[in-house]
Amino acid sequence: MMRYPAELVDPLRRSYEGQPVCVTGGAGFIGGHLVDGLLALGAHVTVIDDLSNSTLSHLAELIETEPDRLRFVHGSILEDEAIDEAVHGASVVFHLAALGSVPRSIDDPQRTWAVNATGTMRVLEAARRAGTKRVVFASSSSAYGETERLPKVESMAPMTLSPYAASKVAGEQLMRAWAHSYSMRTASLRYFNVFGPRQPAGSAYAAVVPNFSSAVFAGNRPVIHGDGEQTRDFTYVACAVLATLQAGGIDTPLRGEVMNVGTGERVSVRELARLIAEAHERPDLVPEHQAPRPGDVRHSLADISRARELLGYRPIVSLADGLRQTVSWFRQQQEQSKRADQ
Ligand SMILES: NC(=O)c1ccc[n+]([C@@H]2O[C@H](COP(=O)([O-])OP(=O)(O)OC[C@H]3O[C@@H](n4cnc5c(N)ncnc54)[C@H](O)[C@@H]3O)[C@@H](O)[C@H]2O)c1
Repeated sequence: MMRYPAELVDPLRRSYEGQPVCVTGGAGFIGGHLVDGLLALGAHVTVIDDLSNSTLSHLAELIETEPDRLRFVHGSILEDEAIDEAVHGASVVFHLAALGSVPRSIDDPQRTWAVNATGTMRVLEAARRAGTKRVVFASSSSAYGETERLPKVESMAPMTLSPYAASKVAGEQLMRAWAHSYSMRTASLRYFNVFGPRQPAGSAYAAVVPNFSSAVFAGNRPVIHGDGEQTRDFTYVACAVLATLQAGGIDTPLRGEVMNVGTGERVSVRELARLIAEAHERPDLVPEHQAPRPGDVRHSLADISRARELLGYRPIVSLADGLRQTVSWFRQQQEQSKRADQ
């Protein structure tokens, strides 16, 4: 697990030591890091994942080292039996299972809705059946769409530009409704462009950091959709995990609050491409531009005051450090797989 400052870790350890928790989507990119964090804090973790967008490789390693504290349920959050088995006995459910990616949701809106919206309701219902009082939901900055002002503050009305964003706003509303109707403690975290080691590259739906990184590593120019002047608040995965752990651990009764989880700083996609090319020591690989993608927002920047006030959250890794760690992991991975192929 990434090392967090002691003053942040101590209260988390008190919340999670010996606690049974459930992570939906725990085989995925952010979920895998969250599981690392929970195990390091002494929790007993059950993961449910249908492996539709991930593999078991990271969890399999963890299960080998922690067979008594990590359990894997291979199934969908849409199946009552599987979700009941996963949530049973959990004191907190971290609900991360979803179909990510705006372009994927435009290609397949029905499946996106089924997993992200209906699936969230099913997770809440499973939590209610199991008597679990706390549910933390992975929402998304895409809920804001285009806003007139930056940074984006939770008091702004959502303006969804894609089926993905709409499904996440629906999930937030469910979190709030279940908190009020069934006395559950719920929170929705709007993650802003999370990146870091183990984020998958190589598919049409991959996120921008692994996309650029794999292109540059292969000696190709990264492809930017649009002019590259669009901006994003890139959040290193350890920061997103910190806020998630804090939201699941605090005593303040949360009732469906929505909170931004970002860094409060932004960078253009063109500048990101330059930083990644530099980190790979290939500054010559300047980006090429293609048509903008539908559903993409122009600017994204988080106001993180609410998460700071309610959770004590603060970003703990800068973009530069996060990119260094990500690129170094990526190169190691690629070199290992090259050696394995030889
Ligand atoms: N990565 C980001 O920048 C970002 C930003 C905002 C919000 N989020 C949200 O955070 C969460 C985690 O994102 P991620 O980047 O780790 O994505 P990911 O795709 O790596 O993880 C999602 C996991 O959910 C699993 N899953 C999908 N459908 C399922 C189903 N029906 N039943 C059980 N498991 C299922 C997938 O197999 C995958 O392992 C998602 O809810 C995503 O929408 C991510």
